[in-house]
Amino acid sequence: MQRIKLLLPVAFIVIVVLAVLIYRASTAAVSIAQPIEFNHYKHHVEMELECEMCHEYVMRNAVAGLPGRELCADCHEEDPDHENPRFNEVARIVKAKAESNEEIEWVRMYQTLDHVIFSHERHLSAHVECAECHGPTGTSITPMAQPKLISMESCMNCHEKRRVSVDCLTCHK
Ligand code: HEC
Ligand code: HEC
Ligand code: HEC
Ligand code: HEC
Ligand code: HEC
Repeated sequence: MQRIKLLLPVAFIVIVVLAVLIYRASTAAVSIAQPIEFNHYKHHVEMELECEMCHEYVMRNAVAGLPGRELCADCHEEDPDHENPRFNEVARIVKAKAESNEEIEWVRMYQTLDHVIFSHERHLSAHVECAECHGPTGTSITPMAQPKLISMESCMNCHEKRRVSVDCLTCHK
């Protein structure tokens, strides 16, 4: 009986420590799972494809847009001689999607709340760089972790620095 009494708190501590470790491991993941592990570095830095090629509304609209399978299929056609097996893997995925008439369901990383007023076009015409809000996302080799770069605090900091309005109603409807 004495022994069980002594073991109980020890077991409790072990369980708590394990739970914390498992939680940390699950949230420390460096990237989020996407249907295709896209590589911005290869397409933007090495092949010099412009951001607007894939995020086509970014210069003229509130939203930027994410690319559909047809854009990938323009280049990713099965090529038995291609030295990168992942090139063909993408070709097979987009072909299968076309046959079943499905889109690629990208997981949105940057998404603000419904009551926040935000426009890409407005910021880009004021020469704010993509990276100021998106960090290295546009040049990263693997998809980024869930970012914290579009918090209210980060919007406010830049607006204060650049003397843009920080009135609640500037950003909230
Ligand atoms: C303008 C042509 C072009 C377009 C458009 C394009 N790709 Fe690629 N992609 C390539 C080429 C070429 C490679 C092989 C590059 C290499 O291995 O150096 C590649 C490689 C890849 C790879 C492998 C990356 C790696 O780390 O090895 C993935 C994944 C990929 N593309 C996904 C996509 C997706 C998804 C789309 C559509 C959103 C897309 N690509 C659109 C040309 C393109
Ligand atoms: C060849 C196509 C292509 C080009 C060029 C490209 N992107 Fe992307 N981008 C994608 C795809 C596909 C995704 C969705 C998958 C992912 O997040 O990895 C994405 C996702 C993103 C996201 C995350 C959006 C969200 O909420 O999930 C940002 C931010 C982004 N790109 C910024 C950029 C910037 C900045 C550039 C230029 C420096 C750029 N991209 C160039 C294809 C492209
Ligand atoms: C001033 C900050 C800021 C700048 C600069 C910026 N973005 Fe964004 N971006 C955001 C915010 C905030 C969201 C979330 C918007 C939403 O939920 O409606 C977002 C969302 C996105 C998305 C997700 C998909 C979508 O349709 O909105 C993509 C892709 C993206 N941005 C690409 C870019 C590219 C490419 C550039 C540069 C040409 C850029 N962004 C510049 C703040 C910024
Ligand atoms: C890196 C700097 C920077 C960041 C970060 C930033 N902004 Fe801005 N924002 C600006 C600049 C500069 C302008 C002024 C544009 C102009 O003069 O038209 C602006 C203008 C605006 C406007 C229009 C203001 C008006 O007076 O009509 C809104 C709305 C806005 N931003 C919302 C946001 C939101 C929401 C976020 C965060 C998700 C954000 N901004 C993050 C720099 C930034
Ligand atoms: C420069 C833009 C900007 C300004 C100015 C601003 N906010 Fe925000 N606010 C945001 C953004 C962006 C978010 C969403 C953050 C996120 O997605 O986590 C937000 C979130 C919030 C939330 C959380 C809502 C929720 O559902 O969780 C509250 C409350 C809020 N803001 C109140 C205010 C008040 C009050 C003011 C004036 C003192 C203000 N905001 C000024 C950009 C702004």
